[in-house]
Formats: sequence, C-alpha cells, structure tokens
Amino acid sequence: MKFSTKAIHSGSEPDPKTGAIMPPIYMSSTFVQGAPGEDKGFEYTRAHNPNFTILEQQLASLENAKHATVFSSGIGALMAMVTLLKSGDKVLAIDGLYGGTYRLFNQVLNRFGIQFEAIIPQSLNELQEAFKSKQPQWLLFETPTNPLMEIFDIAAFAKAAKEHGVFSIVDNTFASPYCQNPLELGIDLVWHSTTKYIGGHSDVVGGVVMTNDAKIKEHLDFARKTTGVNPSPFDCWLVTRGVKTLSVRMERHQSNAMAIATYLSKHPKVKNVLYPGLPDHPKHDIAKKQMRGFSGMLSVEFNLSLEETKKLITSFKYISLAESLGGVESLVNHPALMTHASIPKEERAKMGISDGLVRFSIGLEDIDDLIDDFDKALLPYLN
Ligand SMILES: Cc1ncc(COP(=O)(O)O)c(C=O)c1O
Repeated sequence: MKFSTKAIHSGSEPDPKTGAIMPPIYMSSTFVQGAPGEDKGFEYTRAHNPNFTILEQQLASLENAKHATVFSSGIGALMAMVTLLKSGDKVLAIDGLYGGTYRLFNQVLNRFGIQFEAIIPQSLNELQEAFKSKQPQWLLFETPTNPLMEIFDIAAFAKAAKEHGVFSIVDNTFASPYCQNPLELGIDLVWHSTTKYIGGHSDVVGGVVMTNDAKIKEHLDFARKTTGVNPSPFDCWLVTRGVKTLSVRMERHQSNAMAIATYLSKHPKVKNVLYPGLPDHPKHDIAKKQMRGFSGMLSVEFNLSLEETKKLITSFKYISLAESLGGVESLVNHPALMTHASIPKEERAKMGISDGLVRFSIGLEDIDDLIDDFDKALLPYLN
C-alpha cells in the first residue's frame, strides 16, 4: 500500500455492525469486564481506548514503524520517553530543538538528575568525539531544525550513535511522515507533535512516539498510564480525520513554500531565506537524499530593524501571527520573542536566532493571495 492509501485505509475498517465508514468516537472512560481481569483489550481510558489504537495503527503505518503510542501533546510524548532514562543519565542534543524541549530538560528534568547538553557539531567526527568524551545515553535532534532549517544527515548520525551505544531519537514534527521516515534511516525512536502537520487543522493538541521495539512500546504504554499523559478519544479521532488528507495537504504546503521561498529570495528587503528545498540551501543535497519533499516551514531574515520586523509580522492579511505550525492556514512567528523566548538572549544569539529572524508556516491558501500578501506587507519598506 502506498502512503496516501495507508493514510486513508489503515487503522480502521468500516464498522461491521452499522456500516459506518468512519470510526466512531469512543467517549468512554471505562470498559465492562466479563469477569475480574477479563476485558476486551480496554480497561480504562488513561491506559487504552479504541481511538488511541486506531490512530496508533494509522500513524505507525505512515512512519513505517511497528509500533506507535499516542499522547496528550508532543511534550507529553517527550515526558513519557524520558521515563526510559534514570537519574544520572545524559542526553546529548543537537542545537535547534523546539524551545519547550529545552525548557523541559533545563527547568524540570535537571532537578531529577537527568543531564542535558546541546552542541553544534561541525562535522560527523566532532559528533563522534562528543559521544566519546560525554558518554551520553541519548542523542536527540530535529531535522529540519527549528527555526533555522538546518539539515542533519540522519543515516550518518544514527550509524555513529549505534557505534557508540547511544540511543538515537528524532523529533520528526517539521517534516511529517510524508516527507521523511527516520526509523528507516536507523534512528531508534521517532516522535511528533501531532498538533502540527499530522493533525493539520490547528484544532487539536497531541503527540506520538514510534518504534520498532516491542519492549519500548510496552514501556511507553506503561508511561502513558502511569504519568497520565493520555490524549482524549475525541482528540485522537480528530487527528485520525486529519491524517486522511496528510499527503494532499503536504503537497500543497510544500509547493506554496517553494514558491514563496523563491519569491522572497529575490526580494530587496530580504537578507536570507532558509528553506531546505532551495538549491542554494547549504545542506540541500542531504535534504534531497533523506526527504521526499521539503515541507512547508521556512525562515527569513529581513533587512529590517526589530521595530520594522515587529510591524511587518502583524500587517499580513492572511498570514496570522501565532505560535504553532502545520495547519491549513499560514502562520508567522518571531522566534526570539515567541517560541524561543524561554532561552536566554546570549544563548539564542549563539544558536543563530537573531532578532530579525522570522519563521513562516506556509498554509494551503491560493499561492497568488499569499504572494500578494507579502508584496503588500513589504511595500512600505521599499525605498
Ligand atoms: C518541533 C516541535 N516539537 C515538539 C513540539 C511540542 O508539541 P506540543 O505543542 O504538541 O506539545 C512542538 C510545538 O510547537 C514543536 O514545534
């Protein structure tokens, strides 16, 4: 089965009792048992629910994973994953993670003895040296990164991690399973905020972790039940509904993003466009090797002052100033003042997140309207 067919047909069949072609929503907190301990696979919705299972099968098939566990949010998924660690363990991250991931490690998990360090290796050799000197349990990274659209060679990083006995984890939220499948490139664990492209409509918050290891799946299910980071059945149903159109949405997200990246790279008020689909992106070749498409996220450095940039991002007609990404509507975000505000300014600057950097999540609007929106919003700054 190919991707689009799996997105529509995996996870559930038409209901044999009623013929309903779409799965029902099982809004039930508990499930009747025939005798004590004899259930039909479901006991209590903090642990399991039929809508969790439907979504898990659907998402696992898209990521070509054996198993998936769904959670209340992307951060809920990360919280469940870290229960695989113990006090004293070390997480080596590659800089360019979602701001909330840093916040969880640096402001909460540090108090429980989990060590976290983010580095920017300049070569594979430097990463291997870091494995040797720092002896981490985990390697954690995103590609494309947030918000600089840096690309890392997933297969090479996974191989290096394996050689050093390090467990590798990729946050695949920006690419979505449509564009990239890190498990197939040797990564041990893949997670997503399903709030973004997978849900796709900015109407639900959720997360998922995918693995080929049955023991890890068992642990993640245990962690969900034990820490209470379960989603609601309705939220899972909404995500299942969103997933059915993932491939058509991603095609439009990325064709719109490519058109806008090309347009902006020629604009006089633009210093730099960061989009892995542009042939002059420094890691375009690696992106092409590991991605089937380049998704709908791009960042731009405008030739504008901070005050002008702040004004620009509230002057679009169709592109709304808001956190999050991956929905049908276009969004703009100022990383230094929004998603990465919890990171101290000096650290942000070291990471390359300047005050002039703006991130766009390009939606599914007509491309002519979006280009027109940029034209009009940038017009006051020409001359
Ligand atoms: C790349 C990435 N990973 C993880 C998360 C966290 O997901 P959630 O907001 O669903 O908890 C986000 C949220 O913005 C994100 O952008």
